[in-house]
Amino acid sequence: MLKEIYIECYRSIRELNLELTRLNVITGHNGSGKSNTYQALQLIQDAARGSFAERVVQEGGIPSLMWAGSSSLKRYNSRRNIELILSIRDEESIYELRAGVPIPVPGSMFLLDPEIKEEKIWLGDKKRPSALLVERISSTLISYNPKKEVTPLVLDTSESLLSQLRSPDHHPELFVWLNKILSWRFYHHFDVSKNSLIRQPHPCSRATILNNDGSNLIAAIRTIYEIGDEVLFKKYIANAFNGALIEITDPTMSSVFDLEFHQDGLYRPLSIRELSDGTLKFICLLTALLSPRPASVYILNEPEISLHMDLVDVLADLIVQVSDYSQIILITHSSKLKDKVMFYVDDASLIELEFGKFGTAVAIDL
Ligand SMILES: Nc1ncnc2c1ncn2[C@@H]1O[C@H](COP(=O)(O)OP(=O)(O)OP(=O)(O)O)[C@@H](O)[C@H]1O
Ligand SMILES: [Mg+2]
Repeated sequence: MLKEIYIECYRSIRELNLELTRLNVITGHNGSGKSNTYQALQLIQDAARGSFAERVVQEGGIPSLMWAGSSSLKRYNSRRNIELILSIRDEESIYELRAGVPIPVPGSMFLLDPEIKEEKIWLGDKKRPSALLVERISSTLISYNPKKEVTPLVLDTSESLLSQLRSPDHHPELFVWLNKILSWRFYHHFDVSKNSLIRQPHPCSRATILNNDGSNLIAAIRTIYEIGDEVLFKKYIANAFNGALIEITDPTMSSVFDLEFHQDGLYRPLSIRELSDGTLKFICLLTALLSPRPASVYILNEPEISLHMDLVDVLADLIVQVSDYSQIILITHSSKLKDKVMFYVDDASLIELEFGKFGTAVAIDL
């Protein structure tokens, strides 16, 4: 379980320290940095996956994604060189990545590529020098366990150690973090518009995890029916939609599945193309959260969008239930969703992001 996240100098976030429990609700005004927090966590996963540079360049390069405070920036700058810092702690250790503007390579056209300046892993819950397990300084790896060993490596300086040294035998501490980070799952927006991928028929293969964009929804539901908790899935659908039932069919026997939505009062089932946006969105969330291979952490950004209040209630129940075995970071504007999950989970934590406050949760000063 993630115990702490520390983000420095990422977009609107000058410095943000979040202490986490198994269920964490993040709220705050528009523009207070909720989605930036979500994206910073995605950036850590991109780093683990080996697509850090790609993501940074898509976001406009390091100068664009670094905190752009004005007057305060001068003060801050005089203290030290600005770096983007992403740090996460769980029960066992701390992983930290620092990135910044690269030293220009003469003749190179990759002007927006970032440079990972440092990466470190400490054992335990404090960043003590004596607890340091491994340290990367640019292209050099220093292992402190069992004794200090300096290895100059040919590393890609724009990508993380986690993505480049994947051997469980040689670098177990990196391998452990790699797998933990890769098991986080992010869900923000499902495109449920009429021509979206979710609504199109396509060949289905077994899917224990719903894609971020929900594109493999029908396959993922069928997988829950075959190897997951079909009874629970159907119970949630019935609760949410007045006794409705979802069946998955293969009309042409060619693995191009269809979804049949049976509801009282309708003389024929509805196909996935006929479902309302909110209905389909709820089905996506349910499928994501009832995955037969649950994520270690689910990070949900405003899942309540386009759901009726009654469905928000059902979603709250679902989130509370899933938080028994997966950690949840829930970003929401819905006080109903927030109040309900906070009520049912004793040790849930509520984090309110605010402008200009320098508390444990937030430090934003624009
Ligand atoms: N490099 C940057 N430096 C400083 N601020 C930035 C930077 N990039 C974006 N921002 C600011 O970040 C804010 C957006 O934050 P974010 O999207 O996280 O808000 P939010 O809390 O998710 O809001 P909403 O509730 O509307 O979704 C905007 O005010 C934007 O101007
Ligand atoms: Mg947002």
